[in-house]
Amino acid sequence: MQSFNTIASLREELAKHKGQSLGLVPTMGALHEGHLSLIIRSVAENDVTVVSIFVNPIQFNNQEDLQKYPRTVDDDLKKISEIKTDKTILVLVPSVEEMYPEPVKETYHFGAIEEVMEGPRRPGHFSGVAVVVRRLFDIVEPQRAYFGEKDFQQVAIIRNLLEQIKYPIEMVPCPIVRADDGLALSSRNMRLSPAARAMAPAIYDTLQHAVEMSEYEDVEDVVEWVLGTLASYHEVNPQPDGLKFEPEYFEIVNDTTLQPIESWDDAKGVVGCIAVWLDGVRLIDVVRFR
Ligand code: PAF
Repeated sequence: MQSFNTIASLREELAKHKGQSLGLVPTMGALHEGHLSLIIRSVAENDVTVVSIFVNPIQFNNQEDLQKYPRTVDDDLKKISEIKTDKTILVLVPSVEEMYPEPVKETYHFGAIEEVMEGPRRPGHFSGVAVVVRRLFDIVEPQRAYFGEKDFQQVAIIRNLLEQIKYPIEMVPCPIVRADDGLALSSRNMRLSPAARAMAPAIYDTLQHAVEMSEYEDVEDVVEWVLGTLASYHEVNPQPDGLKFEPEYFEIVNDTTLQPIESWDDAKGVVGCIAVWLDGVRLIDVVRFR
């Protein structure tokens, strides 16, 4: 593994690998097993893997979230260096000035797929993601790029971005990695207090029960049940320090258009996407219904 702080030095190294297949794994660091699964997949499928570690300020609509986002670069590099492989892994760790020497003016629009779920709640977020991902595509020029399905809407946005900019890059969505107790791995989990971390798996338990309910309940009733179950969780299961779930949304959507469905037969592929606040941390998760 080699790490680079400048785009020029990474590109100089990449020039030595001309003709080899190249995979890109964009991350914001604070790497966990979910990120490592993306890197390991890229290593298996490509001669060279580039991992980027960059907390992208322009995708944060909430300054407190940006400030509190965990930054653990030394630890991240150690985890990557421990991956057992003979293949080449290059890590780009640029500063904000390196990525954005000029103020960013471009914006991206994605139509209906950004008008649901995360879109209206995080204004500018997906445009900021698209700007940095396109920049990384331009820097690395990969054949494949790897993204986690926990950010389900982001995967649809990147797919749409690739159609807009017409880059011949294969987007590889990778399954969510969960802790043994079911909590979807996220860099934000490390900000949860021990009591909140112990409570958090109830999100996935609730989603799994919702999947069972979908065999005999209407979509609307399942949505209401999930939101109600989480919102009243602390009443049924008293928590220390007044901990409670504050669900922001739960939507059951067509897995391609991301538009909410009304009946289970409205789409072939159906997923449920949720965002929940717990202990000042915003957690998201996804479950497949059909
Ligand atoms: O999913 C993330 O961590 C980020 O949105 C990404 C794709 C690395 C862009 O900053």
